Amino acid sequence: MRVFVARRLPGGALDRLASEHDVEVWPEQLPPGKEELLARAPELEGLLSLLTDPVDAELIRAAPSLRAISNYAVGVDNIDLDAAAGRGIPVGNTPGVLTDTTADLAVALMLGISRHLAAGDAYVRRGEWRTWETGLLLGHDLHGATVGIVGFGRIGQAVARRVAGFDCEVLHTSRSGGVPLEQLLERSDFVSVHTPLTPETRGLIGDEALGRMKPSAYLVNTARGPIVDADALVRALREGRIAGAALDVTDPEPLPGDHPLLDAPNLLVLPHLGSATHATRERMANMAVDNLLAGLAGEPMPNEVTRRG
Ligand code: DGY
Repeated sequence: MRVFVARRLPGGALDRLASEHDVEVWPEQLPPGKEELLARAPELEGLLSLLTDPVDAELIRAAPSLRAISNYAVGVDNIDLDAAAGRGIPVGNTPGVLTDTTADLAVALMLGISRHLAAGDAYVRRGEWRTWETGLLLGHDLHGATVGIVGFGRIGQAVARRVAGFDCEVLHTSRSGGVPLEQLLERSDFVSVHTPLTPETRGLIGDEALGRMKPSAYLVNTARGPIVDADALVRALREGRIAGAALDVTDPEPLPGDHPLLDAPNLLVLPHLGSATHATRERMANMAVDNLLAGLAGEPMPNEVTRRG
């Protein structure tokens, strides 16, 4: 079957796909873009997409032979799940294998922003380090802090396990329990976001939510950029309404070099590296290929996304 893979993937997983199907792998560093995807749509039977590739209703409509979509990510907000379900096209994702890797990074961001790791590194490189100073780059402790986890799925729970080792008190919100978001925001020293991006969570952390946080608290986002209202965050950082923010994901992505967030104080920002380790990206590739092979064979995918009702 004709399969389009929207980028090269690490490891040997794509060889397994190519041994069974007619595979085209997009060779560029930047995503193929809508036009390239639409150009292939009429013949397309299998699609292996990344979170940077919008698989929307228009693309799905333009691909009458499409039988399986496999996303190289756990998040599937780049895919119109309703349009896929309407055509009976299964959608696969890569849960589980990136949980611990992403949770590790969330904790790294907590420490990175609260202990000024990037600012300290820049200070040394600028040649400004002249002596040991009593008041230089003082931060806040993670150990013993209250950590609020917004969204208590796999990754949120993995973060909770990690910060328990720092003697933190953990609060969480979830669909089935935990504390109300308002309470979590008001009590937490670190607020770490781990919800999927849905219409309900888009802009969840905006002016109101940021206004409830303590002035000494930090916001960490390793989930999806649009869950945090970037303009509201710029205002909160500029006005010192929170102590800082550490973002692995932004809105937009990539963040343009002249974006106001980059001029805001006390911000640590990474280019969406949550799952970025050799081992995890290889596991994701294997999982994405397994999903696609199963979908193309008309079998249930090992990890198929069930549409929320
Ligand atoms: C995901 O899988 O959704 C992450 O954002 C990238 O690994």
